Amino acid sequence: MSDVARLPEIEKILFTEEQIAERIRELGAEISARYPEGRLKLIGVLKGSVFFLTALAREISVPVKIDFLAISSFSGRPGTPGLVRISKDLDEPIHGDDVLLVEDIVDTGFTARYLLQTLAGRNPNSLGICTLLDRTVRRIVQAPVLFRCFEIPDRFVVGFGLDYRQLYRNLKYIAVMKP
Ligand code: IMP
Ligand code: MG
Repeated sequence: MSDVARLPEIEKILFTEEQIAERIRELGAEISARYPEGRLKLIGVLKGSVFFLTALAREISVPVKIDFLAISSFSGRPGTPGLVRISKDLDEPIHGDDVLLVEDIVDTGFTARYLLQTLAGRNPNSLGICTLLDRTVRRIVQAPVLFRCFEIPDRFVVGFGLDYRQLYRNLKYIAVMKP
């Protein structure tokens, strides 16, 4: 708690380091049971999902490959539907892989839907979304989430990869920003 006192922009902690670690352990076990065939590939969306992906991968007990892509979104205002484009593509094909797209948060769903559609065209064996946070109250387009750690209310959050103007990604907890 003492580090929160030093961050005046933080209103309250939503999930502690321990709560996050425990949920990721549970998710890792679920995923390991669901994909025993050794074709699992985690695809991280840079940069927000990096912290979640590396923690999750260490809790997965079946063979797993990892790749990353980066996106840029051109949106007038945060939360408004914007154009999404891949600014750094995957290093490897995903043909035949069981792909889990790993996200920091699925909010309106636009980013996840765009990425799912793009990846679906590359013939993976299966394709699903695994997200740290899910804010279904703000969903505009459908984005089927297979695995999620936490559902969150309609407040802006930072930490564990999530940023406000590129800051706070390194917080060990997930916190609500002051309005
Ligand atoms: P979408 O609205 O589902 O397309 O989500 C787009 C992106 O907005 C997410 O991947 C995050 O990078 C960002 N985002 C949405 N809500 C938050 C938040 O509360 N904190 C930090 N980033 C967010
Ligand atoms: Mg993101």
